[in-house]
Amino acid sequence: MKIKQTEFVISAVGPSQYPEGDLPEVALAGRSNVGKSSLINKMLLRRNLARTSQQPGKTQTLNYYRINGELFFVDFPGYGYARVSKSEREAWGKMIERYLREREPLKLVLQLVDVRHPPSAEDVRMYEWLSHYGIPMIVVATKADKVSRSQWPKHLKVIRTSLGMPGHVPLVLFSSETGQGRDELWSMIAQAAGI
Ligand code: GTP
Ligand code: MG
Repeated sequence: MKIKQTEFVISAVGPSQYPEGDLPEVALAGRSNVGKSSLINKMLLRRNLARTSQQPGKTQTLNYYRINGELFFVDFPGYGYARVSKSEREAWGKMIERYLREREPLKLVLQLVDVRHPPSAEDVRMYEWLSHYGIPMIVVATKADKVSRSQWPKHLKVIRTSLGMPGHVPLVLFSSETGQGRDELWSMIAQAAGI
């Protein structure tokens, strides 16, 4: 995928703000700090288009990025951040659920998990929830540069087993530091989005 043009479009809080038209959408889910914004920046070869931070729980909206006028990345708010109130958590759940249930242009969900740690209970719940909607999924194991190469297979196996991923669901190792997994992910995204 040759990146010709990228732009941030909107931080949407609900359906009335989702972009019009029918460009395919690829959503990114994962806990706070897992590397969603970093992955977007690496995929788009932009240093700071999607804002990254040391402070988790920052993004509470669906952030839309348009690529080459051909597709959108939709960055979900990160989950699993302890200092978010119960009502905020519920609002988050409703927004995501409605998006997953109703959003026709959604073609693919990337669920990000940190390759260093076994998936959390919330990762498992998110995975089950996403699977339930029958939307094509790819699990992306982030921060591959933080684990030595010889340990990768072991970590990937823990992720696949803990999430209960069937063999046909892809699991891709990724690093926003080294760009590992970028080409592989782009070809899967292009195929799922039909571009
Ligand atoms: P929220 O927006 O809070 O949900 O977080 P996020 O998932 O967007 O995470 P973000 O991309 O902001 O990354 C969090 C931290 O992890 C930052 O300090 C990044 O530099 C670091 N990070 C992300 N991806 C990688 C990676 O592949 N390798 C390394 N070494 N660090 C990473
Ligand atoms: Mg982010």
